[in-house]
Amino acid sequence: MISIGLFDVKPYDRVWFDRLARPDTRIRYCDYRLGPDTARLARGLDAVCPFVSDDLSARTIRALAESGVKLIALRCAGFNNVDLRAAQEYRIPVCRVPCYSPSAVAEHAAALLLTLNRHVHRAYNRTREHNFSLAGLTGFNLKGKTCGIVGTGRIGLAFAAIAQGFGMRLLACDPFPAGIPGLTYVTLEELLRESDVVSLHCPLSAGTRHMIQGRTLGLMKREAVLINTSRGALVDSRALLEALRKGQLGGAALDVYEEEGDVFFEDVSGEVLEDEVLSLLLTLPNVLITAHQGFLTQEALQAIAATTLDNIRGFFSGRPQNLIGGEAGREAPQPQAAPAPAPVP
Ligand code: NAI
Repeated sequence: MISIGLFDVKPYDRVWFDRLARPDTRIRYCDYRLGPDTARLARGLDAVCPFVSDDLSARTIRALAESGVKLIALRCAGFNNVDLRAAQEYRIPVCRVPCYSPSAVAEHAAALLLTLNRHVHRAYNRTREHNFSLAGLTGFNLKGKTCGIVGTGRIGLAFAAIAQGFGMRLLACDPFPAGIPGLTYVTLEELLRESDVVSLHCPLSAGTRHMIQGRTLGLMKREAVLINTSRGALVDSRALLEALRKGQLGGAALDVYEEEGDVFFEDVSGEVLEDEVLSLLLTLPNVLITAHQGFLTQEALQAIAATTLDNIRGFFSGRPQNLIGGEAGREAPQPQAAPAPAPVP
């Protein structure tokens, strides 16, 4: 029996894990986040399955190791929330779901672009109030405009195909060009200078953190639109707010936000937002924010559950897959038989 703990679970997460779990797997669903304060509740679990906002810092990983956890099986693609050095030190391999549905995220980026550019979010609210005025709702045609794609991996290429369908000219920047017809690779600076739409699809790393900040925002066209469905900290949010307030940028649509861990995925509608930058961004008519829902399609949720369960079963049967950091050759430890459940707060 393999015992798995899913952390920060929402009702939509459970659907496919419940359907795809086999009798050899016992799943404990935890609605709280994994972090230094909750890691000890993982005692008795063979594998923990965290999500993007869980805190996999060194303290958490040490507590997991001391609790006997043998695998961290992320149910997402990004792993910037994991201290990989600590995972190596405490000998807990980390696996992830590298690809579950590039189209899900790319289509959400397209939805954000169309909504923001044609002010659909504002029109929706107006007509519900019987305000049928069109003032302030003018957009621009995408056909013939230039779309700059930063990061042409799986999601970036899926977005490129959509933008090409709109008749846009495509610029891209990526240290590993994809060699796809219709994509012209340029430097980030050139891309920012020439694009009417800039869409971010590269991972967050020390090298990409705040790649969009005061200086790079200053290179963009005044009417350009920035779309970020990748990771919030690619963009310096305070600098973005300043650029928008000064009219240096046409608009921004964000599915991810630098400090999203504090509020995204939660209903805090009855509370005052402590994050001043987020509060101010939300007041701007040319800003559209969704709460990290790019992955949220039925197909993606099914693929996430299927790959996560395969990763875990593979690891415990000596066939590890999707491990981060070249741990694939490592011998897999055996799961304990029927561990006692830990208390749930
Ligand atoms: P991928 O690994 O297939 O592609 C990433 C690409 O970015 C690679 O081609 C890489 O060479 C490129 N890259 C790396 N550093 C770069 C730089 N400095 N400048 C330009 N390009 C650079 O990853 P995939 O699957 O396309 O995902 C991209 C990102 O999307 C993930 O890292 C994740 O943060 C985000 N994501 C967001 C989701 C959401 O729900 N909003 C869901 C899934 C992923």
